[in-house]
Amino acid sequence: MSPLPTSRPAPAGDHLLTDQLGRPLRDLRLSVTDRCNLRCTYCMPASVFGPDFAFLPRAELLSFEELERLSRLFVGLGVNKLRITGGEPLLRKGLPELIARLGSIDGVQDIAMTTNGLLLPRLAADLKAAGLKRVTVSLDSLDPEVFGRMNGLGVHPDKVLDGIEAALVAGLGVKINTVVQRGVNDSVLGELWAALKDRAVLRFIEFMDVGNHNGWNLGAVVPPREVLAQLGGDFRPAQAHYRGEVAARYVDAQGHEAGLITSVTSPFCGDCTRARLSAVGVLYTCLFAVGGLDLRGPLRGGAGDDELTALLVQTWSRRRDRYSEERGEMTDQQAGPKVEMSHIGG
Ligand code: GTP
Ligand code: 5AD
Ligand code: SF4
Ligand code: SF4
Repeated sequence: MSPLPTSRPAPAGDHLLTDQLGRPLRDLRLSVTDRCNLRCTYCMPASVFGPDFAFLPRAELLSFEELERLSRLFVGLGVNKLRITGGEPLLRKGLPELIARLGSIDGVQDIAMTTNGLLLPRLAADLKAAGLKRVTVSLDSLDPEVFGRMNGLGVHPDKVLDGIEAALVAGLGVKINTVVQRGVNDSVLGELWAALKDRAVLRFIEFMDVGNHNGWNLGAVVPPREVLAQLGGDFRPAQAHYRGEVAARYVDAQGHEAGLITSVTSPFCGDCTRARLSAVGVLYTCLFAVGGLDLRGPLRGGAGDDELTALLVQTWSRRRDRYSEERGEMTDQQAGPKVEMSHIGG
């Protein structure tokens, strides 16, 4: 085995850690559970994630102490933004404690969460008090039939709307993620937009071939111009808030914002500064990765901070991932098998 680099890189801003394509490490997405209380067909289809599906046992998951320790090391390398994901992160007990721990790390500027919103009525106030700044709530349609089918369990959209309301009342920033699939929800986007554009930023995500079970096909991907036409407004493109922003922003005449996440039709790998840590502590440097680096082994085996940091530096500095850009040239056979979405949370 080649020796690990042992020198500690200087903090971000001075001498920046970058990957093979010159991309810095800025965002860390922490999955805290692989479980979910929905079964969205494009993510965890019920036919695969059924009643007998073996989810991870509790002891396998990184503890809050472990998540805090690793996050601190990532922040030392340039990360300033944390996002909690799942599965459904709110199924993990005691999450406000984790938020408070992460918020205590010097250099963390933003803590967000991606959630399906179902448990927000119970938890939003505590999460906000603990330091969570904003949530991104997944909601694919307001049509009970369409949404019930897409979430795999017949759950009514009102349940998600209650969660969005609770988040707003608690003072959390709210964005909404809508995965668009041709022939499934593409004709009911206008209703969603009209009902929620005053309350939140809506983002429309192209159906992606994440994981290995969602029956992805290019024909089901709806390009941005069709999505904007469905919303009906008079849209103009708006400047990105920051370099590498995943969503391309559009604003209508009244200033309502729609984001288009076009990883299939216009990939954005060139500015990708995101690392993902699975609930069991495997580090992935791409949403479509085939494998990752186990950090839990060394962490629980007594590795010191320098040793762990060296592993992170080595992994990021060797990174060449640009899956969405390469996908166009691949056959389906060349493309799979990949890490499941429920392990790295989108
Ligand atoms: P903001 O901080 O609010 O800008 O959020 P974000 O856009 O970084 O985060 P979010 O997790 O809400 O991203 C929305 C969706 O975009 C995710 O659920 C994924 O489906 C998709 N997405 C996010 N990051 C990536 C990425 O690096 N590659 C690809 N292909 N898709 C991504
Ligand atoms: N394509 C696009 N987005 C997806 N998400 C999950 N699976 C897919 C997919 N196949 C998004 C959901 C949710 C987040 C966890 O990831 O919209 O917001
Ligand atoms: Fe659960 Fe979110 Fe996946 Fe739907 S998209 S199954 S809510 S983790
Ligand atoms: Fe980043 Fe991989 Fe997504 Fe490209 S496909 S933007 S490299 S996570």
